[in-house]
Amino acid sequence: MWKGRFKKNASEGLIAYGESVSFDWRLYGQDIRGSIAHAGALLTKGILKREEFDEIARALQEIEGEIERGEFQFKEELEDVHMNIEYALTARIGAAGAKLHTARSRNDQVALDTRLYCLEAIEALDGAMGVLQRALLDQAEENLVVVVPGYTHLQRGQPVLYGHHLLAYVEMLGRDRDRLRNVRERVDVMPLGSGALAGSTICLDREQIAAELGFSRVSQNSMDAVSDRDYVAEILFSLGLLGVHLSRLGEDLVLWCSSEFSFIRLSDAHTTGSSLMPQKKNPDIAELARGKSGRLIGNLVSLLVTLKGLPMTYNRDLQEDKEPLFDSIDTAMDSLFVMAEMVAEIEVLSDAMAEAASDEFLLATDIADYLVMKGVPFRESHEVVGRLTAFSLKEGQAFSSIPIGKLKEFSQAFEADIEEVLSLSGALRARKGTGAPSPTNVMEQIARWRGLLGGEE
Ligand code: ARG
Repeated sequence: MWKGRFKKNASEGLIAYGESVSFDWRLYGQDIRGSIAHAGALLTKGILKREEFDEIARALQEIEGEIERGEFQFKEELEDVHMNIEYALTARIGAAGAKLHTARSRNDQVALDTRLYCLEAIEALDGAMGVLQRALLDQAEENLVVVVPGYTHLQRGQPVLYGHHLLAYVEMLGRDRDRLRNVRERVDVMPLGSGALAGSTICLDREQIAAELGFSRVSQNSMDAVSDRDYVAEILFSLGLLGVHLSRLGEDLVLWCSSEFSFIRLSDAHTTGSSLMPQKKNPDIAELARGKSGRLIGNLVSLLVTLKGLPMTYNRDLQEDKEPLFDSIDTAMDSLFVMAEMVAEIEVLSDAMAEAASDEFLLATDIADYLVMKGVPFRESHEVVGRLTAFSLKEGQAFSSIPIGKLKEFSQAFEADIEEVLSLSGALRARKGTGAPSPTNVMEQIARWRGLLGGEE
């Protein structure tokens, strides 16, 4: 493509080291759509004749069909997807094909293709996050009455509904979706026309190209447009954080299906055995979702390091944006689908959950709150219940079996109605402030999310 100035062919080493077609081939659909839109602007400008435009569009569609059917031979020596397609086009239609690259550089072309690819990926990721949200909602709804201990520091803290715990992940995924939709606004900028870095003396109608491709805006600075990969970094951050959320969900499931917790059983379909230990049933999907957060985070770091210190404008370093981008999109999509499948089939072992939730220490804060309502300052009531806990542990006596006379030795404020505080269902019902886990609230939250996700299938 640049044979004019060069006397020697590229070395084998350069070809193998510099090629990107082995991974950027997947931009072919975007590249072809972009080229047809660009050809449309060349037609408007009078640089292409109608027959030439038709010929180009037809040949590009033919090439696309061949790629889809696996009949197209990508050549490493043609470096990237853009040159492979242009070369094939010119080989087929000659002169008209050779006019296509007028007023365009691969620098604005690759920026366009990557943005188009990201726009489609954001749609797909948004849908996949919705699938996992719905699986979590179904699981919460099917187990509405199930209570589990809520933990801080992985120590039993206070009782919550199992559904409330799952809805926390629905919230996280909701923020992940918002974040990507927000990034989408900055992806939705059409860079073509920026040329190599300084636009072109042949001014094409950039708005026409943007409209044709469904972009809302065109870029406003040609130098920024060819060197900007902020939108890739933002997507990688969003997916990195999604990875962190999936990792935490994975970790909860790993804990819950261990013999130590025994809160849930995962389907045989989503677990593996051990080649050595016949009794084992391992939660590999949950572990992999946790493990793959490493590469999702790594991909972000890799791109940021690549971008840091690049002089303006396009530098070949930027070719290194695609593998992390593709890898994060693929990894996130796979993790979301497989996690959704697994969550849908979780078997809740409600007896074990009930047993754990019946631990009366989970209600220690409620007793302190009870004393507050009887007029005891919280710091004092906290200390009273602390002493009571020590007593209970030492004597092996649960709160509810300590007679009122004994309780009064800890605080005169205790009365017979303390009994009501020691009921688990009462304790949950009482947590009715916005965001707290009362059964009514949890049902309302499920309904709220159903409403928000309503339009999605
Ligand atoms: N394969 C290149 C990339 O992904 C396309 C742009 C090449 N531009 C250039 N001036 N060599 O970045």
